[in-house]
Amino acid sequence: MNENILITAALPYINNVPHIGNVIGSHFPADVYARFHRVYGNNVTFIGGADEHGTPAVINAKALGVTPRELVDKLKVIHKQIYNKLNISYDNFSGTSIERHASISREFFEKLKENGYIEKGKVNMYYCPTCKMFLPDRFVRGTCPKCGYDDAYGDCCEKCDSSFNGNELINPHCHTCGATPEIKESEHYYFNLTKVSPLLDEWIESKKDVFKPYVYSEAKRWIKEGLNPRCITRDMSWGIPVEENGETDKVFYVWFEAPIGYISFTHELGEELYNTLWKDKSSKIYHFIGKDNIPFHSVFFPSMLLANGEYNLPYDVAGLNFLNYEGQKFSKSKKIGVFCTPLLDSDIEIDALRGYLMSIMPETKDSDWKWEEFKNNTNSELIGKFGNFFNRTINLLYKNFPNLDVDFNSITELDDLDKHIIESLETISTNVVENYKNIKFRDAYKQLMNLAIEANTYLEHKAPWTLIKNEKMEEAKKVLYICLNICKSLAILGSPIMPSKMQEVWANQLCFAGKVDEKGNISNVGKITVEKNHKVGEPKPLFRRIDDDYLTSLTEHFSNSLDISTLF
Ligand code: MF3
Ligand code: ZN
Repeated sequence: MNENILITAALPYINNVPHIGNVIGSHFPADVYARFHRVYGNNVTFIGGADEHGTPAVINAKALGVTPRELVDKLKVIHKQIYNKLNISYDNFSGTSIERHASISREFFEKLKENGYIEKGKVNMYYCPTCKMFLPDRFVRGTCPKCGYDDAYGDCCEKCDSSFNGNELINPHCHTCGATPEIKESEHYYFNLTKVSPLLDEWIESKKDVFKPYVYSEAKRWIKEGLNPRCITRDMSWGIPVEENGETDKVFYVWFEAPIGYISFTHELGEELYNTLWKDKSSKIYHFIGKDNIPFHSVFFPSMLLANGEYNLPYDVAGLNFLNYEGQKFSKSKKIGVFCTPLLDSDIEIDALRGYLMSIMPETKDSDWKWEEFKNNTNSELIGKFGNFFNRTINLLYKNFPNLDVDFNSITELDDLDKHIIESLETISTNVVENYKNIKFRDAYKQLMNLAIEANTYLEHKAPWTLIKNEKMEEAKKVLYICLNICKSLAILGSPIMPSKMQEVWANQLCFAGKVDEKGNISNVGKITVEKNHKVGEPKPLFRRIDDDYLTSLTEHFSNSLDISTLF
């Protein structure tokens, strides 16, 4: 407790609008983790922002007849609206086009130079004679030299996930005009990864017990295959100029400057916080990213940080797998998927959505969105088990004991059932907390539901409604008092997943003071803490039941992604 923690979510590219697979791979798990650590009592800073540069933005803008600046500015607003609607609790959601980021990136680069990690080199680059420009990355297409896929980019192949330097593509052609490029010499800066490799290997080894096994082994694989110097500049005008008032059109490669955004966006929150989080060795940095980003966060960015020498390295890199849709890959054009722009005019309950996302988190392998499962999770889990326990407890209290004059210390009679549920409250709560801490979100969710199941069973066995009928009021009060305490724990433990529903039940129905996710509130979890003479409020169902008609309308609504050409 009271640790300083920086949580980051991968900075989304802003050349298009996101789908729910993008959200479950970074923003959402990062948000759950940030919210958990806040209630746990740590000092959390949660940052993200737009990854505005790179060739895709230029290419998409060109296709729409606008400038990259116009495209990015418009899309950035939509991205922000979506993350707000999903209740992602960023302390700062910024973007890589802010001036401070440019200067921090250049300073970072200068430091690497000073430390002897930067080299200048002349390279042969593709150059389109028709368009009269160099063709970095996605400006050139051709056949992948590794797998033979015929629409690979200049820097990588999306089919086989390999990345390459220089002029390795077979049958290259200009993406804009189709012409066969010439080879022209250009001078670029290289980051000497080979030199930093021993330090990096040592660091990765030190993470063996922290990283998930596949993150660790992927990082090791890169080391084993040997790291070559990487070109970190590009001949284009969209990006951060290497020299502030330089003559040339050279900008940093997007993958060099984007992760530095984590530093710049922390800096925006103040120098002191920045120093604490990035320089004080006791702070912990967690990156939440999709699996395609693992090499950049476990190898390249850490190498940059090591070579720079001034900054903390990540404590953990949480790599998430991919989400599919009903067994298929997301496809905007085929309307396969759950897209995020439809969120903005939907009445879908965000916390029901978040609950379902939690249950299908692609932690160890790819997972699948299924609408039928979404319905079942809402109706059977969130309403049938979790919500039902709140509802029954609050209802019985509201009708029978509007002022609950029970003081736990004066209860003398605890039978086996009482003792058992009090013990379960403690052990299951501890489990939930441990699972959150270890980024085992599916298990955290499952255990949370288990606590609700056990609590419901206790309530069934005790049947306070019968006790009341038979005028065994002291016994009924005791049972409901125990249940009320369980509700308190459930609400606090559920708040990282379903923040607004838990706040609503906390304030208006359970009628506890403060906020459900107040810093350090975890100290009230797993125990009996409710004070004497507690008064609950009027019970209300927490979630809206999903019937088949509503489900059909949601399925249809969320299959339509915004066509960004309609924005201009
Ligand atoms: N924009 C990249 C993507 O969407 C992620 C960049 S993460 C950062 O895959 F670390 F570079 F910022
Ligand atoms: Zn061309």
